[in-house]
Amino acid sequence: MKGIILAGGSATRLYPITLAVSKQMLPVYDKPMIYYPLSTLMMAGIREVLIISTPVHLPAFESLLGDGSRFGMKFEYKIQEKPVGLADAFILGEEFIGDDNVALILGDNMIYGSRVERVLKAASNLKKGGIIFGYQVADPTSYGVVEIDKTGKALSIEEKPKNPKSHFAVPGIYFYDNDVVKIAKSIKPSERGELEITDVNKRYMENGTLQVIPLGSGYAWFDTGSADRLSDASDYVKAIELRQGTQIACLEEIAYKNEWISKEDLLKEAKKYKKTEYGKYLEKVANQNYKDYKEIYESDLFNNITNISFK
Ligand code: G1P
Repeated sequence: MKGIILAGGSATRLYPITLAVSKQMLPVYDKPMIYYPLSTLMMAGIREVLIISTPVHLPAFESLLGDGSRFGMKFEYKIQEKPVGLADAFILGEEFIGDDNVALILGDNMIYGSRVERVLKAASNLKKGGIIFGYQVADPTSYGVVEIDKTGKALSIEEKPKNPKSHFAVPGIYFYDNDVVKIAKSIKPSERGELEITDVNKRYMENGTLQVIPLGSGYAWFDTGSADRLSDASDYVKAIELRQGTQIACLEEIAYKNEWISKEDLLKEAKKYKKTEYGKYLEKVANQNYKDYKEIYESDLFNNITNISFK
């Protein structure tokens, strides 16, 4: 499966911060925002990623992330001239996608939580149809909203409804089979003039091939489109990182744990950041016996936790 990060748009809701800087370059606590969605794709096991942004901002992403080789990955870049909707990513990405399945993540979305890698890896193994997530929010009116039955089947899906039929917002991460390119080309712009991802999802729903995975309360999902939500996301990352002594969206760490780069590669990266906590952290990751830790973490001890019953 391939991955696309859509990091375009003019982010007017964040003016004046984004008058001259891309929103997806803003810091979320200690990292540029785009690190978070990129880490999500990496946790899903996706190594080939297309980054789409505006003509003005794309060069900065190229200079930040390069060709991906330092993460054992391959990055490509594509300009989106105008923000004509999320589904445009599949039209712009047609050649990059080729015959593969594809995941799309918005450059301002982050998902985090216990065992999130498992959920993402399972989604990236999709054979047919589409997979989206449902995340309960207090006010879903500024999102795509999905209504599901108790088997997880989508009953309806609407974009920014005034009277939402459920509390399940649809986070900006989507997994599709290759039909998505054809579907994106066939949908018409909405009233706000955009090729809506919700219309793509509707098509899958009507074909009976849209799966919805509800993410429970153990997961954090943030979209960082407004100053308050950006600050919430930063606070969250800071709280977890300082409390646990771990990093969220540490790209080099994920690449190493995915076995896409070697210990030597990781130590070389650590040197670049040697004056920072980030550099010290990379060094620590390289020198710890990660394999033992991985065995514990991936054992049934964690998987069975929900099945424990008390007498
Ligand atoms: C977009 C999608 C919406 C989704 C949201 C997630 O909204 O259209 O369905 O729930 O991303 O962040 P937009 O960012 O265009 O307002």
